[in-house]
Amino acid sequence: MENNLDYGGSEWVPEAPSGEPERQYYFMDRVRELVERKKREGYGASCLVNVIGCQMSAKDAEKLRGILKGCGYREAESEDDADVILFTTCTVRENANQKLYGRIGRLKHQCERRKGMILGITGCMMQEKDEVETIRKRYPYVKLIFGTHNVYKLAELLYRTLRRDERTVEIIDDTSLIVENLPSLRKTGFRASVNISYGCNNFCTYCIVPYVRGREKSRSSEEILRECRDLVRDGVKEIMLLGQNVNSYGLDREELRFPELLRRVSEIPGLRRIRFMTPNPKDFSEELIDLIGERENICRHIHLPLQSGSTEVLRRMNRHYTKESYLALVRRIRKKLPDVSLTTDIIVGFPGESERDFQDTMDVVRRVGFDSAFTFVYSKRSGTPAAKWEGVSEELVKDRFHRLLDAVRESSSENEGRDIGKVMEVLVEERDREKPGFLTGRLSNNILVHFRGGERLIGELVSVELLESRGFYYMGRLL
Ligand code: 5AD
Ligand code: SF4
Repeated sequence: MENNLDYGGSEWVPEAPSGEPERQYYFMDRVRELVERKKREGYGASCLVNVIGCQMSAKDAEKLRGILKGCGYREAESEDDADVILFTTCTVRENANQKLYGRIGRLKHQCERRKGMILGITGCMMQEKDEVETIRKRYPYVKLIFGTHNVYKLAELLYRTLRRDERTVEIIDDTSLIVENLPSLRKTGFRASVNISYGCNNFCTYCIVPYVRGREKSRSSEEILRECRDLVRDGVKEIMLLGQNVNSYGLDREELRFPELLRRVSEIPGLRRIRFMTPNPKDFSEELIDLIGERENICRHIHLPLQSGSTEVLRRMNRHYTKESYLALVRRIRKKLPDVSLTTDIIVGFPGESERDFQDTMDVVRRVGFDSAFTFVYSKRSGTPAAKWEGVSEELVKDRFHRLLDAVRESSSENEGRDIGKVMEVLVEERDREKPGFLTGRLSNNILVHFRGGERLIGELVSVELLESRGFYYMGRLL
């Protein structure tokens, strides 16, 4: 562990094991004892973990929930009913930070009134020193602050906070440690995500992730495969493999390469669907395209972040591909996988983006025909190279953003309804939130389908005839 920034000071607990994960299981037992004692005095021992951010952040929340359960906490019905509230945070854009401040501001009253209440914050935003300082100064009722590298340590940190009844702050700059075999608690039984690597080595010039998640570290393929097999045994039908750049899996250690890992995961008997997030266009290999074509349970959806369609902007973003090579990759994918849906991320208003650069982005959007695109206004992240470069005026950015949205809508509408009349396999996810008696499910290509059906089908794969397209989704009939 390098540069361990520990404001609270570690409490020396002589009998605690020094190895992991044994040490954390030891602290789970200690917290459980404390909680049991407090329960007799009327403590509710209920907890809630809130997620701000991406799937990585959601995955961290599952780990936190698992540890809290191991510590004797139950899930709270609502925020008002919780004795421990944790947030996994995001800092990829400024508005994610603002969101957190809004949420914790509203909890001030509850923290001050509820006896023994612990509000804790972890995640990417806590890897930024300025944000930690702001919370330390302005939000004295936040009792627990830790970062992305010590999520596994929640039991130990919670023990320290409960014992001393004072604030605990522990942030680690980076680590090469991966702690396996800690509990995790999923919200849905039939879908799960599995980390394959942590951190990122790409250093795109706009992006804070390498600074807050650290250098890329691949998990051992054996551990990944074991976790996937256990999940399938548990009834999981769909697994999402998670990494900041899945294609570079294994390059940092003696390991399989990503296509081989994906093949082995896809060969697990009973695993019906596999997704992965996020590939980088710069190293999306032919082997990977062929594998997706070969294995029916690898989903027909590729999220391929474009960021910009201008070769010059891509160069300054340090993306290592060009407009032409991106378009060539899309052509190769479409040729071998005609039924695949493509989605993307695009940033508007990167420093120095000219109208011509922007037109290149519009051109790629029109030529590719993405099924959907997440469009973002560039957000300056301090500490990244691009933060020092002169920005594009707000007025221009706004105008481009709206033009881009229109282009995305137009090009995705060209694909709408292309599967009408077909019978396709749907994984049923939940009750339709708007239409009683209806269910919502997802096709392999990630498009949603609504159809009439009973709740007992949730978590099942069913055949549905696609009757009508309503833009982003289909209406269908269960067969
Ligand atoms: N400003 C705007 N969008 C960003 N993203 C990452 N960093 C920034 C930033 N500084 C977007 C990228 C990435 C997605 C997860 O967030 O498009 O793919
Ligand atoms: Fe996810 Fe990046 Fe946000 Fe962290 S900063 S939660 S890795 S999007």
